[in-house]
Amino acid sequence: MSTTTMLKVTGLKVAYGGIQAVKGVNFEVHQGELVSLIGANGAGKTTTLKAVTGTQPVAEGTIEYLGRSIRGQGAWDLVKQGLVMVPEGRGTFTRMTIVENLQMGAFIRNDNEIDADIEKVFVLFPRLKERRNQLAGTMSGGEQQMLAMGRALMARPKVLLLDEPSMGLSPIMVDKIFEVVNDIHQRGTTVLLVEQNASRALGLANRGYVMDSGEITMTGDAKALLNDPKVRAAYLGE
Ligand SMILES: Nc1ncnc2c1ncn2[C@@H]1O[C@H](COP(=O)(O)OP(=O)(O)OP(=O)(O)O)[C@@H](O)[C@H]1O
Ligand SMILES: [Mg+2]
Repeated sequence: MSTTTMLKVTGLKVAYGGIQAVKGVNFEVHQGELVSLIGANGAGKTTTLKAVTGTQPVAEGTIEYLGRSIRGQGAWDLVKQGLVMVPEGRGTFTRMTIVENLQMGAFIRNDNEIDADIEKVFVLFPRLKERRNQLAGTMSGGEQQMLAMGRALMARPKVLLLDEPSMGLSPIMVDKIFEVVNDIHQRGTTVLLVEQNASRALGLANRGYVMDSGEITMTGDAKALLNDPKVRAAYLGE
């Protein structure tokens, strides 16, 4: 059986002014996989995702999505092609209601299943249904994370990129978010999950990459990484 490579990044370098934040990173994500990218504050995880999704200029390297170069393409074009990111800090439209935010997620579509997909998001996140007419800006952090994920799903992603979805949430909400990430993956969406919560992220993943100071320092089967003494010492507080 051949595997389809959804995303392939080679020699990626990104700089902010004179400071190199990403220093030649290689990784790939195959169809149906959940891949976790872990690493400490400032490792370059968000910068990597921004470069992939066209919101941060690339200094060097190649980025291929479904076998074709997407380097230089803007975020909207990529969403149309099924490459969708939920950014760090969520980025919901605070002065719109939940339903309006979800509709915005489907702005690239013109089929007649949008309302049905909103109902599917409500099945995943019943809390959003209860609050459907509430302004997004008045919701809790966890609710906004649910909304950001729901909005991304409305674009019917082929590859979903999640940047620290559990950040700043209560333990119960963290459980809920990881449960839904797992659910989204189990239903067939390919997922690249960026997390500082290494144990949870690797616990769900098929494969993982460890990023440190702008470089990928380790990669492999997620369970093997989870059991690796170096990973445990550096990222699991052991
Ligand atoms: N807009 C910016 N201008 C200048 N430097 C930046 C900018 N954004 C990020 N950096 C720097 O680039 C490096 C990588 O940051 P990045 O946000 O990618 O890390 P991260 O791995 O996502 O960290 P965290 O887990 O804290 O979100 C850091 O040193 C950061 O200070
Ligand atoms: Mg980040």
